[in-house]
Amino acid sequence: MLLSADDKKHIKAIMPAIAAHGDKFGGEALYRMFIVNPKTKTYFPSFDFHHNSKQISAHGKKVVDALNEASNHLDNIAGSMSKLSDLHAYDLRVDPGNFPLLAHNILVVVAMNFPKQFDPATHKALDKFLATVSTVLTSKYR
Ligand code: HEM
Repeated sequence: MLLSADDKKHIKAIMPAIAAHGDKFGGEALYRMFIVNPKTKTYFPSFDFHHNSKQISAHGKKVVDALNEASNHLDNIAGSMSKLSDLHAYDLRVDPGNFPLLAHNILVVVAMNFPKQFDPATHKALDKFLATVSTVLTSKYR
């Protein structure tokens, strides 16, 4: 999905605030994904699924850090996420259908925590960004 200059501007404007508390926001998005889409729990067999568990917060931070890193390479998301793409495709083999579920929950958490900044243009930009990241992370499946 092609990100416009305006999309890129909105992504770069909001990502640092999300990344500043990646454990909280990423953890909240994962926690919601696990509640709303319980099948996703099967990929994390060793996790404690309680709210604010250490594992959920730590993993949430990893996910948000990866998104933040990608937001610094918006002209080469595929290159900057190549290793993560290998991991999800070859080792984890996460069903691609799960990516929109996580993306949805990330959007919900951002909307709740940044209601003013989450205007329609930011909503659209983040939606496209997360779709692009999902495409990259599922691009090596065969
Ligand atoms: C691991 C990012 C989507 C399942 C990871 C890691 C990162 C990451 C940064 C850690 C890699 C490492 O430790 O080297 C992302 C991003 C996603 C995404 C940015 C999309 C926005 C998903 C989805 C699932 C998933 C949808 C499944 C529902 C996993 C699992 C691990 C993992 C099972 C390994 C966890 C562990 O053993 O600690 N992901 N991921 N990921 N991801 Fe993803």
